[in-house]
Amino acid sequence: MKKILITGGAGFIGSHVVRRFVNTYPNYQIVNLDKLTYAGNLENLRDVEQSANYKFVKGDIVDAAFIQDLFDKENFDAVIHLAAESHVDRSITNPTEFVMTNVVGTVNLLNSARTTWKGDYDRKRFYHVSTDEVYGALGEGTEMFTEETSYDPHSPYSASKASSDHFVRAYFDTYGMDCVISNCSNNYGSHHFPEKLIPLSIHNIQQNKAIPIYGKGENIRDWLWVEDHARAIDVIFHKAKSGETYNIGGHNEWTNIDLIRTLCKVMDRKLGKAEGTSEKLITYVTDRAGHDLRYAIDATKLKNDLGWEPSLQFEEGLEKTVDWYLANEKWLNNVTSGNYQSYYEDQYQNR
Ligand code: NAD
Ligand code: TYD
Repeated sequence: MKKILITGGAGFIGSHVVRRFVNTYPNYQIVNLDKLTYAGNLENLRDVEQSANYKFVKGDIVDAAFIQDLFDKENFDAVIHLAAESHVDRSITNPTEFVMTNVVGTVNLLNSARTTWKGDYDRKRFYHVSTDEVYGALGEGTEMFTEETSYDPHSPYSASKASSDHFVRAYFDTYGMDCVISNCSNNYGSHHFPEKLIPLSIHNIQQNKAIPIYGKGENIRDWLWVEDHARAIDVIFHKAKSGETYNIGGHNEWTNIDLIRTLCKVMDRKLGKAEGTSEKLITYVTDRAGHDLRYAIDATKLKNDLGWEPSLQFEEGLEKTVDWYLANEKWLNNVTSGNYQSYYEDQYQNR
């Protein structure tokens, strides 16, 4: 038996991690703690909410007293920490919220784990889920981020995640707490909130609205199917040595414009439209401030140490993703609540 606290389990990646752990490990008790911000949605977990080994708790990781109380009551063996403010554009508008949730919230969890485990980390683990954005931006060449790459965050989002990573390492170095960290590239797949590039574009194509491409669309991201990320988290959680860091990525780099053109073709085919119809919606808009040019992950260490590799080719993953959104219009309509606008449009119209 193990009791595991998963934070942010109602969000995009968290819901895939919760589902995987609840279904794969019936002998684990999974407690999903989530504040249910705009990005948290219990609809994401309808298929597991009745499971005997699953429980949901609504709460804010910024509330230290509440977190300590929860640890006192539940006596967790492990934490898998995903709760975060996760959208770069929102971090540019409201950095403080990112400091509170991503930095203070993480430190609150570390403190309560430390108090509860009282220096005995045998069969205990604090797993912090982080991002490749902490490494900053790469040039157009072939260089990739490794676990040795120095941190060089540029956005308030990546600065807050970098800070939280440093705190987790500090608790390993200072208190000997059993900690592991993984830094993953951009995820895509089902249940992704439609403010991020791929689900926003799918949503806008469905609504016959403009697809906003920042700058010239030449920025490069390395895309990984979300269920491959959840599987990597499972492997690292169970097999990594304490204090380790692993990069997770898909070896799958795309410029934003090429990715969106490919997506438009898939959407045209699935919606029975003439090829080229959706591409007409592509609209170049003002670039994001401080927009990182390129991310690319070298996941060799994870492959060599723990045998993890991505399972899906991008084209197949994109098809699956589009199929899911087309089959789940209700989910999309619920989160977009009729008059939803992309964050970009919102900010643009309020200028
Ligand atoms: P998300 O925005 O979809 O979900 C975040 C979840 O955290 C939501 O359910 C939200 O309600 C919850 N939350 C936010 N603030 C909270 C608070 N104060 N207390 C409790 N719960 C709170 O994010 P995501 O894309 O699923 O990302 C999950 C984690 O993975 C984050 O830590 C993110 O930095 C990391 N990550 C994301 C990506 C990606 O491509 N999305 C890539 C690498 C790493
Ligand atoms: P996003 O999905 O926000 O992820 P991240 O910023 O964490 O990489 O953005 C992915 C890329 O797409 C990034 O280079 C910004 C760009 N982008 C657009 O061009 N238009 C959009 O409307 C959005 C949301 C993102």
